[in-house]
Amino acid sequence: MSHPLERLRDEALREIESATDDQALETTRVKYLGRSGSISSWGEQMKVLAKEEKPVVGKLLNEVRNAVTAAIETRNAQFRLQKESGALTKIDISLPGTPHEIGSLHPLHQMHERAIQIFRRMGFALAEGPDIETEWYCFDALNTPPDHPARNEQDTFYLSDGRLLRTHTSTVQIRAMKSAPPPLRVIASGAAYRRDELDATHSPQFHQIEGLYVDENVSVADLKGELEFFLRELFGPGTEVQFRPHYFPFTEPSLEVYVRSKALKRGEQWIEVAGCGMVHPAVFEAVNKARGDKAYDPEKWSGYAFGLGMDRLAMILFDIPDIRLFAQNDLRFLRQFA
Ligand code: DAH
Repeated sequence: MSHPLERLRDEALREIESATDDQALETTRVKYLGRSGSISSWGEQMKVLAKEEKPVVGKLLNEVRNAVTAAIETRNAQFRLQKESGALTKIDISLPGTPHEIGSLHPLHQMHERAIQIFRRMGFALAEGPDIETEWYCFDALNTPPDHPARNEQDTFYLSDGRLLRTHTSTVQIRAMKSAPPPLRVIASGAAYRRDELDATHSPQFHQIEGLYVDENVSVADLKGELEFFLRELFGPGTEVQFRPHYFPFTEPSLEVYVRSKALKRGEQWIEVAGCGMVHPAVFEAVNKARGDKAYDPEKWSGYAFGLGMDRLAMILFDIPDIRLFAQNDLRFLRQFA
């Protein structure tokens, strides 16, 4: 003969199984497990049992209580699941969704990606530096004397603490050399700032790609070959490239780079796209001083550097007539590059 507790358990399990909703289940739970429920009241009855019966019945009581509790939880979970799947079937999938507009890359960003792709194939790694710089990174380390016109407040945006908005990305040359010894082959792409009047070809904020290659026996021929390759990859094989003598404090010799191509809209015209040259020994010395070593010994290492005008390149490549279009965010303009 089974124990009355076992019969109580079987009765409870049957009732749980046949409960049709969570309310009925709750009634069953209270009936058996509630404070004065029939299983709970067995706890009271334990007191009057004979001493040797107590552990046996106590153990059975625990088992019964656990079995019933588990069955209630299982049934409850089934009800929850039913409810959730019921809710899903009520969704009208024929209703129109919330539209997400897909944007596109800004033409300057596209220009940046194209350039980086070409330079990567030539083994250049990507370097970077901040837009807000110190005078040392922007001028002193780049062999630019205190009385140089570029340092003038009429040309450069100074912050009240003496720092400035970098006037070129050449600052990244110094940062790269400070953090790693030669050989080095890096490019950096980003914004530069000058107090220029805004017109069709000038903007106080513009963009450059800076390049630096330092190794043993680097020559002007390497520099010319590399820039010619880059410009022909970008504008097509028929592109003519011309190097004209120029002056920059941080290079010697210094050159300006011009391109001309029949494939481009402004076909017959030479357009200036970059400044470049061989890194001045004084720049290596400034870096050595900051590093506290002789890693960039100008007797052993030589290098070339260049700064390409990204806005200019993008304007030629996409035939954009006015630099202001880049910053105006006119969707009619931007959508043409989607
Ligand atoms: N920093 C120069 C400018 O903004 C461009 C330039 C010239 C960069 C010569 C160089 C360089 O790296 O070697 O006008």
